Amino acid sequence: MRIIKSANPMQKYSNRLKATNNSVGFVPTMGYLHEGHLSLVRRSLKENDKTIVSVFINPAQFGPREDLAKYPRDFKRDENMLRKIGTDAVFYPTAKEMYQKPYHTYVDVECLTDALCGRSRPGHFRGVTTVVAKLLNIVNPDNAYFGQKDAQQAIVIEKMANDLNMNVKIKTLPIVRETDGLAMSSRNSYLSKKERGDATVLHKSLLLAKTMIRKGERSSIKVINMMKALVRQKNVSQIDYIAIVNPETLKPIKTIHGQVLIALAVYIGKTRLIDNLKLKVR
Ligand code: PAF
Repeated sequence: MRIIKSANPMQKYSNRLKATNNSVGFVPTMGYLHEGHLSLVRRSLKENDKTIVSVFINPAQFGPREDLAKYPRDFKRDENMLRKIGTDAVFYPTAKEMYQKPYHTYVDVECLTDALCGRSRPGHFRGVTTVVAKLLNIVNPDNAYFGQKDAQQAIVIEKMANDLNMNVKIKTLPIVRETDGLAMSSRNSYLSKKERGDATVLHKSLLLAKTMIRKGERSSIKVINMMKALVRQKNVSQIDYIAIVNPETLKPIKTIHGQVLIALAVYIGKTRLIDNLKLKVR
């Protein structure tokens, strides 16, 4: 497995692969890998001749009061996991290399980034789309893989790729969960034992919503209120949002019908966790 630390050699490697008729799959990550990331890598290995994974904690997507400095990192561990499953190359650049000073160019997807996580994390998606656009330009893959856990991120990236006529297929794969339902996330490593137990309430509230809707409830507000009540039973500092939205526009839905995305962000102690569920309602 190659480890490539600069954009120029990465571009050359990818160009060589393309010139020799290899399809390239790409999985961008911020490291501290878990089964969720590995499920993306495995799918890429299956669907492409070569798979490239990036490990880059992107400063541009962290707000001034967010956890950039303490975001978990362990490149040796990531490297071993990626080697073991057969990754062809890892792109592991520094922030200095990715944002060479003076840095002036950003990618901004409008509208879709105002709601949900965008509301409480201003500038976050601008950082995500900027780095993903840069990574796609550097790696030049045929397919790029993202997780459904970051539902809004996946929608925003797909919109960016379409709007900017990027020559890549964006693929969004299902959430991978722990056995008790908690969605896998690098941030789960921040949770104390007690908080780890409380954190299952995100998934439980989604299951509650699903049951209510399956039994015929069609009022978003009623479903959201029941979810809120369930979440508040736990040692939760703050509900950031619980929303039922159209999965394409991310606009809130009053009466539940058709395709809906139920999404929430909750602080368990100091750790902000997100989860979501997509449902088709007749
Ligand atoms: O989902 C993530 O880990 C990040 O937002 C991404 C897509 C790697 C961009 O930094």
